[in-house]
Amino acid sequence: MPVEITNNSRRRIPSSWLKEKLEEALKLLNLGEKELHVLFLDDEGITHLNTLYLGRPYPTNVISFSQWEGPIPGGANPHLGDIAVSWETAMREAQLYDLPQRHYLLALLVHGLMHLLGHEHERRPEAAALMVRNEIRLLKRLLGPRGQKIINFVRRREYMPAKLAVNVDHVATVREARKVNYPDPVHAAVLVELAGAHGVVVHLREDRRHIQDRDVRLIREIVQTKMVLEMAATEEMIKIAKEIRPHQVTLVPERRQEITTEGGLKVKGRVAKVREAVEELKEAGLKVSIFIDPEVDQIKAASKTGADIVELHTGNYAEAPGEEEQELELTRIEEAARVARELGFEVHAGHGLHYGNIGPVAAIPEIEEFSIGHAIIGRAIMVGLKEAVREMLCLIEEAR
Ligand code: PXP
Repeated sequence: MPVEITNNSRRRIPSSWLKEKLEEALKLLNLGEKELHVLFLDDEGITHLNTLYLGRPYPTNVISFSQWEGPIPGGANPHLGDIAVSWETAMREAQLYDLPQRHYLLALLVHGLMHLLGHEHERRPEAAALMVRNEIRLLKRLLGPRGQKIINFVRRREYMPAKLAVNVDHVATVREARKVNYPDPVHAAVLVELAGAHGVVVHLREDRRHIQDRDVRLIREIVQTKMVLEMAATEEMIKIAKEIRPHQVTLVPERRQEITTEGGLKVKGRVAKVREAVEELKEAGLKVSIFIDPEVDQIKAASKTGADIVELHTGNYAEAPGEEEQELELTRIEEAARVARELGFEVHAGHGLHYGNIGPVAAIPEIEEFSIGHAIIGRAIMVGLKEAVREMLCLIEEAR
């Protein structure tokens, strides 16, 4: 029996199909003589394994346990290793990314198999590239043209550059300095889209210091990519979001006296309150992001709120006083992005990012989108808005 599947998930698994595909995979890899054990668990089961062996007390989608120390298995031992999959996490992710369930399960198993063969995506970007290339090659042969969607997903998740959503608040800041009708953030929204940005962001503050209600309404109407409404989780703002229906709502903390958002939303210890706001917005059919500090505790708390996305606060990274401190903050963001992605979040990041500091964060493969405002609008005064957006897009693209 080259592939044995144990199902401890208490759910129905397409076991014979997966067994057939994995045996075919082993043959294609010239490992037809080897044995592989696959274990399906629920989140509790995989959390137990994560805690016991990897010091991660939370569920992940897949873990591999190799029988080998060296890079490529060989020798007489017929057993390649074990792959444990959380059925619950896998199904949650398949739904989140809108992927066929069987194909996603197979993609996770192929990923686990690559680990058993010595691939390590966490090591270096080139190692990750090689691993994904091998996964895609195998999935193509196992699924043929019907697997195109999952293949695109595997390719995109690791290599697609992150997207850029441009915050146009500070166009409105200049307008409000004189209380006139120019420059207009609505015009800016059109220009940033024409320059290739993937979204337009506005923060409607309680004190209306820059963006006004009229801007939000008009930008929602004209935007052809996506519109993100940043807001505090207050009754007034939730009502506005439900009326305007942006493509995404990002919940942020807000203090009247602050110059700009000063940190992430504190979710830990306030899960019920945040979940209430998230649920109300999601019941209205809106996609919800929460802006949080890159801390594992906050992310775990966020995973109990029902939010679809976490936007990691990059302010401390941006403001780090020296190289060493910045490196430390970068490590925090990397770790937070990894944990957030493993918990099934779409991962975004933003705040304080500019042309000089975007590179290292844009290289983090888990981050799918950046939200950047001040630096782009500031540069636009000198070089024009389209040029400023394009320059930032180039830096993000070059980073991966
Ligand atoms: N993300 C969030 C949640 C924010 O509140 C802001 C500032 O409005 C940004 C990103 C953009 O920050 P910056 O203007 O520093 O690029």
